[in-house]
Amino acid sequence: MNDGDDVRLVCFSDLSATVVRNRLLAAHDRFWTTDARTLHHPVWFHQFGGFGVLAMSGSGEDVGYLLGTVTVDRLAYLHLLAVRDDRRRDGLGRRLCRWFDDLAVSTGARVVQAVTRPDNTPAVAFHTALGASSHLSRDHAGPGADRTVLTRSLPTA
Ligand SMILES: CC(C)(COP(=O)(O)OP(=O)(O)OC[C@H]1O[C@@H](n2cnc3c(N)ncnc32)[C@H](O)[C@@H]1OP(=O)(O)O)[C@@H](O)C(=O)NCCC(=O)NCCS
Repeated sequence: MNDGDDVRLVCFSDLSATVVRNRLLAAHDRFWTTDARTLHHPVWFHQFGGFGVLAMSGSGEDVGYLLGTVTVDRLAYLHLLAVRDDRRRDGLGRRLCRWFDDLAVSTGARVVQAVTRPDNTPAVAFHTALGASSHLSRDHAGPGADRTVLTRSLPTA
């Protein structure tokens, strides 16, 4: 299988935020290896959905998604990125990021940043493969909750 030829990308703003959020939470364990439910706050779907994208298979299954936003200081913040367990290592994560990069650049973003747990080896490898540099942010998410911050430059529009 390559890059999911049958897969189409749909912006969350073209979908019902409530319906898709509930569907993705119901399928949570197919997308995440640690509990990421609290990161799926409704605001990411209802208010920031215009920066989010859902990957749907030809048969209409949810196979990947990305949620994020662009801040006033031109930082593209990639909040959540997940590819369903049976669709990984097929270029879909890269494709979702390309979609977000293009949109972010069109709004003037210069840098894209993601934050992950230091032991999330696949996520760190993924962002590094896309050209991100990483640094450890101590106590980032609270006392003892270190995070790895992955930062990558975006091309100019
Ligand atoms: C991280 C994640 C989104 C990557 O999605 P993906 O569709 O498998 O990634 P791609 O196929 O586009 O991979 C692009 C490149 O990233 C690197 N990469 C991706 N997954 C990797 C892994 N598990 N180990 C090592 N390198 C990896 C490779 O260089 C890969 O290119 P290659 O397959 O040609 O070698 C996916 O593993 C995932 O959903 N993980 C669970 C959710 C999660 O932890 N998300 C955190 C994101 S911050």
